[in-house]
Amino acid sequence: MKTSILFVCLGNICRSPAAEGILRDRIVRAGLSDRIEVDSAGTYGGHRGDLPDPRMRSAASRRGYSLTHRARQVREDDFERFDRIVVMDDMNYETLHRLAPSRAAAQKIYRMTDFCRHHPDWTYVPDPYYEGHEGFELVLNMLEDGCEGLLEDLQAGERG
Ligand code: 4NP
Repeated sequence: MKTSILFVCLGNICRSPAAEGILRDRIVRAGLSDRIEVDSAGTYGGHRGDLPDPRMRSAASRRGYSLTHRARQVREDDFERFDRIVVMDDMNYETLHRLAPSRAAAQKIYRMTDFCRHHPDWTYVPDPYYEGHEGFELVLNMLEDGCEGLLEDLQAGERG
C-alpha cells in the first residue's frame, strides 16, 4: 500500500511545493517511488494554477530540484486522500484544524519542524515571500532537514 503525504503552506508557491520537490527527490534516491506519494497545496487559493515563485524555483534549481507543481487550494477531501498533512507554520496548523472533518482527520496534521533535526530553535518554517535571497536559502535548508527526518520516520513506521 502507498503512503501519501500532503505539504501545506499559505500560497502553495514557495514552501510547500519546494518541500514536495525535495521529498520526491529523496524518495527517488531511496528507491521508494512506488511506496510514497507526495503533493502540496495552499490554504489561500489566490495563486491557483501558478508555478512556484521564480525566486524559489531558481534557489531550488541551484540545489538540483526542478519544481513544476501548479498551485492549488487545500480541500476537505484531502483528509481522506492523504495519510499525513504536513504544515509549515502556526497559521496553516490552525486553518487545517478548522478544516478537519473529524478528530481522526485532525490527527493526520503534523508540523514540518517536528521532523527537523538540525533546526532545534524553530517551531515553524518562515514565510520567505517578503524576504530576500537568504530567506529562501534558510527555507530550503529547513525543508531538506525536515524531508530527510520525515522520510526516516516513514521508513521506521514501515519497519516497526
Ligand atoms: P508560501 O509563500 O505560503 O510559502 O507559498 C507565500 C506565497 C504567497 C503569499 C504569501 C506567502 N501571498 O500573500 O500571496
